[in-house]
Order: sequence, then C-alpha cells, then structure tokens
Amino acid sequence: MKIIFQILLAFWLAWFWVNVEDSVTKSLRILNSNSNKPLKKKILFAFSSDEDIQVQATTLLKELQCSKEDRNMKNICSSILFHFENGLGSELHVTEGFENIVQISKKISTSKDLGGNSAQMALRAFKEGGDVYLSAIMSNHYYQNLFNESITIVPQSFLREEIQDVHIVINFDEGDVYDTIICQHTNRLYLQNDQDNMRFPGLENLEANINSIHPDLLVIGGFQLMNQKPKKEYEEIILKLEKILIAQKNNLKIHFEMGAFNDENLLYYLIDHIFPHIHSTGMNEQELQLLYNFITKGQLEQKQINTNEQLQLIVKLLQKQHLERIHFHSQTIQLICSNQDWRDIKPALHRSILVGLIQAMKSYNDNQIDQQFNNSTNLEILLEEEDLILYPNNQTLNRDHLIQTMNFCWNVNNQLKHQCCVAPVLINPHPMRTCGLGDNIGSTSLLYQLQ
Ligand SMILES: *[C@@H]1O[C@H](CO)[C@@H](O)[C@H](O)[C@H]1NC(C)=O
Ligand SMILES: *[C@@H]1O[C@H](CO)[C@@H](O)[C@H](O)[C@H]1NC(C)=O
Ligand SMILES: *[C@@H]1O[C@H](CO)[C@@H](O)[C@H](O)[C@H]1NC(C)=O
Ligand SMILES: *[C@@H]1O[C@H](CO)[C@@H](O)[C@H](O)[C@H]1NC(C)=O
Repeated sequence: MKIIFQILLAFWLAWFWVNVEDSVTKSLRILNSNSNKPLKKKILFAFSSDEDIQVQATTLLKELQCSKEDRNMKNICSSILFHFENGLGSELHVTEGFENIVQISKKISTSKDLGGNSAQMALRAFKEGGDVYLSAIMSNHYYQNLFNESITIVPQSFLREEIQDVHIVINFDEGDVYDTIICQHTNRLYLQNDQDNMRFPGLENLEANINSIHPDLLVIGGFQLMNQKPKKEYEEIILKLEKILIAQKNNLKIHFEMGAFNDENLLYYLIDHIFPHIHSTGMNEQELQLLYNFITKGQLEQKQINTNEQLQLIVKLLQKQHLERIHFHSQTIQLICSNQDWRDIKPALHRSILVGLIQAMKSYNDNQIDQQFNNSTNLEILLEEEDLILYPNNQTLNRDHLIQTMNFCWNVNNQLKHQCCVAPVLINPHPMRTCGLGDNIGSTSLLYQLQ
C-alpha cells in the first residue's frame, strides 16, 4: 500500500513538474510571437546619464574593511550592509570619501557601462525603433558604440569626451554571505555624488528643444538623484520644470519615471508640482510601496503589500492623480492601465516583459536588437495568488488561466475610461544584472503605446 502510494506520489510530482515546465515554455512562446511594432514617434528623454561601475557587494565590503559591528554605526559600511542584508535596492548620495570608493571600485569592478534613467530609456527606445532625442551628457564612445550615432543629442554640446558622473552599482545576490550576514534578496544599491546630473543640465534648453523638435512624448526621470538634498536646491529646479510642463502639456504627452526615492520631502514636492502636469508614470513595487499610505491616507510610508493590494493601489493612484496611464512592473506581474489616448496595451505589455527578461540575462549594454529570447532554462513565474482580484469591481481572475493566456484586460468605469491589462512576468532568479531593468521595461511600453 505504502509503495503504491509512493509511486502515485512520484507520478503526480513528475506530472506536476512537466506541467510547470510546459507553462513557462508556452508563456515564453506567446511573448516571442508578438508581431506588433511601435509607430515611429519622436521622443525626447531628459535629464540623467552616467557611467555605471559594477561591483560585487562582498568584494567591496572586504576592500572597505567593513565588519558586522559596523551595522550599529553611521557610516558607509552600515549603509551597504543594511541594504545587503535586507535585499533592498536604493540610491544613496555619498559625499564623504566618494572618490576613494570610486578608486577602489574601479580596481575590483566587474564591468563599466552606460547608466542613468534617461540614457537607458533612450537606448531602449532607439533599439525598439523610436526617433530618439536625448538631453543628457553623452560620451563619444557610447554614442558611437551603443547608439550608432543615430540619435540626436540636444544640445550638441552635451556630446563630450567622457561622462563625468560615476555611479557605483553594488550588486548582491540572495544567499551571499558577508561576515555571517546573509543577503535576503537579489538587488543592487547605487552610490553617487553627481555633479552634472544634479544641475539637471537639459532643463536650461528644454523649452527651446520642445519647440524646435516637436516631440510626441517627453520622458523625464532621475529625480531620485536629489534624495537628501536641501529643499532649496531642488525647489528651484522643480518649479522651473513645472512652468515648462504647464505651458507644454497640451502639445505632447509627458511621462514621469519614478525612482528609488527615500526622501519624503522631495517626493511630496514632486507629487505637488509635477504629478498634476503629467499624463503617464511608471514604477516598480518598491516605489509603489512607498506611495502606499500617500494613496490611502495622504502620508508616505513603506509597506510590504501583496499583488492584489498592488492592483488596487495602482487603480486608486490613477484615479487620485487623474493620470491617463500607469505602467507597474514587479517580480510577479506587469500591469498597464491607460485611456483611449494610448494604443493597445497587450503588445506593449508582452514586449516589455520580454525586454525585461532579455535585459536581465545580458551582462552589459550592446547595440544588438534582440527580437526574441528562447532559453527557458531556470525561468519561473512567481505569481503566488490563486486568484487575482481586479479592482474596482473585484472580479476574480484565476492564476492558471492568466498564465495560459498571458494577458487579461478589464475596464475601469471612471471619467477617463481606463482599461487595465495584467500579465504574469517570467523571470530568471539568477539574473546577470538588475540595473536599468525598470528603465528598459518602461521605455518599451511607452514606445508601443504612442499613437
Ligand atoms: C548605423 O547607421 C548607419 C547610417 O546611419 C546605417 O547605415 C547602419 O545600418 C546602422 N547600423 C546599425 C547596426 O544599425
Ligand atoms: C529563437 O527561436 C527562433 C525561432 O525558433 C529563431 O528564429 C531565433 O533565431 C532564436 N533566437 C535566438 C536568440 O536564439
Ligand atoms: C540557458 O540558460 C542557462 C541558465 O540560465 C545557461 O546555463 C545556458 O547556458 C543557457 N543556454 C543557452 C543555449 O544559452
Ligand atoms: C472591492 O474591494 C474593496 C476592498 O478590497 C472594497 O473597498 C470595494 O468596495 C469593493 N468593490 C466592489 C464593487 O465590491
């Protein structure tokens, strides 16, 4: 009896395994079969670019002679260890000793690459076939090798010998151990001490550029670089931008890319002065979690929430801020809600999930246009809920059904007549890199949805 039971169990497990394996392969096939192409639209990206220096957290911690006793101090070691242990991604502004960390990082770095929200988004839009204008400092090297000199840098004087702003990208993987401290979650921490980006160099010429280029879409991002800056330093920049957005918002679409904000004042200031003038925004789960209490109670607080709560919050944010469009991307799902001013959601969703996967499995930026991704080894679908509850009608959507179809849409009967579509995400739990993923995902869907 016991043996029969064990045999049955083994069969059942094998069947279960094959089935799980199949659904991933099938989902990947659906994503790869997306034959839609974006329209050739003019997109202007502003304001940030930098050179990313990649390092492994454990190597850097060792070079900096950090130990677990540092956790109770207030120094660079404690900051890195805190993010390492909790698997938190963030962007820290470091003034003291930054040059020293840069020198050490250059020595131990695994690679150097183009970074910065605007530059990453511009590169993705270029590769997906957009007519791209970038208003950020760019080096001749990346301009030739990544952009094939085929985008327009505005103003031309931003094309330089090198990009001065350097970001240290500290990568950590789930299970990494340093001085008995175990990393909980694969993620990365950025350290920066930007000079050029902090001045928002493209702001000076933004209005003139819009008037001469007539872009269909303006994409702004990189504001998290101002985390922990004194209020007066960012107020002036944000108010100046606000004026331009108010004057231009009827002439083009405006997308604001969220970032890893850890400065409440700054985020509030953006919500007050920039959010009312944008059409579209994009964010990941950490960024949404930070907005949790703002949406429900009007104050900021980081709170861990599940997929159904995320769905609900996104729709609430859409309504509260009168936005035309939101793209939410997590380790589990991608969700886009948009109104009739934007093209079909499904192709945008499928392409951006695929691009996220392609980017995660490439260790560096190159000029290849990757149409497909065929390697289903190790891919997973992390969607944990049995049923998704689709706010605001609370219709239930079965997990397995969603995985079968890789897309489900529903209408939100509000003033702006939004449609929302959700799809599960395919991920490899051991990505080659995590930085710039959100930028690539966000830029892709924008391009596909521009009409
Ligand atoms: C690079 O640009 C040139 C001319 O603008 C074009 O002929 C060529 O096909 C482009 N190469 C790639 C790889 O896109
Ligand atoms: C993926 O598979 C398709 C069809 O089988 C093939 O045309 C394509 O070249 C493959 N792509 C890669 C990156 O292997
Ligand atoms: C597929 O991915 C796995 C790990 O994710 C890797 O070990 C393997 O080499 C890849 N196969 C191909 C053909 O690239
Ligand atoms: C959906 O659920 C939320 C709470 O999760 C509730 O506030 C709302 O009234 C529900 N909507 C409907 C139509 O039942």
